[in-house]
Amino acid sequence: MSIPALFEMNERVAIVTGAVGLLGVKHCEALASVGAHVVCLDVQATEAAMLAADLTARFSTRCLGIACDITQPAQVKTACAQVMREFGRVDALINNARSGYSKKELVGLEEFDVQIVRRDFIVQVEGAFNCAQQFGAQMAKQGRGSIVNICSTYGVVAPNFQIYADEPVKFASPISYSIAKSALIGLTNYLASYWGSSGVRANLLTPGGIRAESRQSQTFLDKYNARVPLGRMAQPTEMQGAIVFLCSDASSYMTGANLIVDGGWTAW
Ligand SMILES: NC(=O)c1ccc[n+]([C@@H]2O[C@H](COP(=O)([O-])OP(=O)(O)OC[C@H]3O[C@@H](n4cnc5c(N)ncnc54)[C@H](O)[C@@H]3O)[C@@H](O)[C@H]2O)c1
Repeated sequence: MSIPALFEMNERVAIVTGAVGLLGVKHCEALASVGAHVVCLDVQATEAAMLAADLTARFSTRCLGIACDITQPAQVKTACAQVMREFGRVDALINNARSGYSKKELVGLEEFDVQIVRRDFIVQVEGAFNCAQQFGAQMAKQGRGSIVNICSTYGVVAPNFQIYADEPVKFASPISYSIAKSALIGLTNYLASYWGSSGVRANLLTPGGIRAESRQSQTFLDKYNARVPLGRMAQPTEMQGAIVFLCSDASSYMTGANLIVDGGWTAW
């Protein structure tokens, strides 16, 4: 196989959860651009349908928006049945969804509400489990597939609280997020081991902080950038190469691994 062909995903079907968020849209675009039929799963039904229509028009693949709350096993099962009716196969699953926080929820550890720990676990870990159970089982039946769980540097190392010290919200990255993200490492290793002999690979993609103008102040940026070897946050498009690599045959001998794309944040 030629090297460019390793990265092609023509006629393959890729599921992306949290598809209409900041990174989800970029993951979907990347996969459609290499020929995949992309299934955009999100609780935001209208936006998911619009994204799928846009991808279909721009990349000439057949993309589908499905309204699905991944914390509900029955909804995930229904979504999987719909994908099988429409496409008859599943080749890749990207567990990317996450829930957000209100400002008042983001308090120090001593006052932190355990309900938020449960909510993060339910959306990020149970949600990924529910999707892996349905879509992963289908890939195992087919004898091939790739699961990518989206982690975070804060699932690998703790937040550096100095960079948030001058922000209005001092605990912008809460403990519940770190707990849920690190649990995805265990889930990924388990899936890699469990389905390895069935040809289904499971890996993590660990992004560093993503630049989003609405989300970061200049003081935060200055502190963050000084702490990262490449001197800047990632652009949302800078995960796209890693997504295509992990979902395609280019990574065919890679499973149970964590691909860290963080500008060097975890290097020192
Ligand atoms: N943005 C960053 O700086 C950054 C850094 C490292 C890792 N990450 C990870 O990347 C992923 C995407 O981050 P983002 O910033 O694009 O998030 P985002 O908040 O922009 O988007 C999250 C999406 O998930 C959807 N969602 C929430 N609950 C859901 C549910 N129950 N079922 C289905 N969909 C649901 C939302 O509707 C939303 O579209 C997350 O896993 C996040 O933890 C992000």
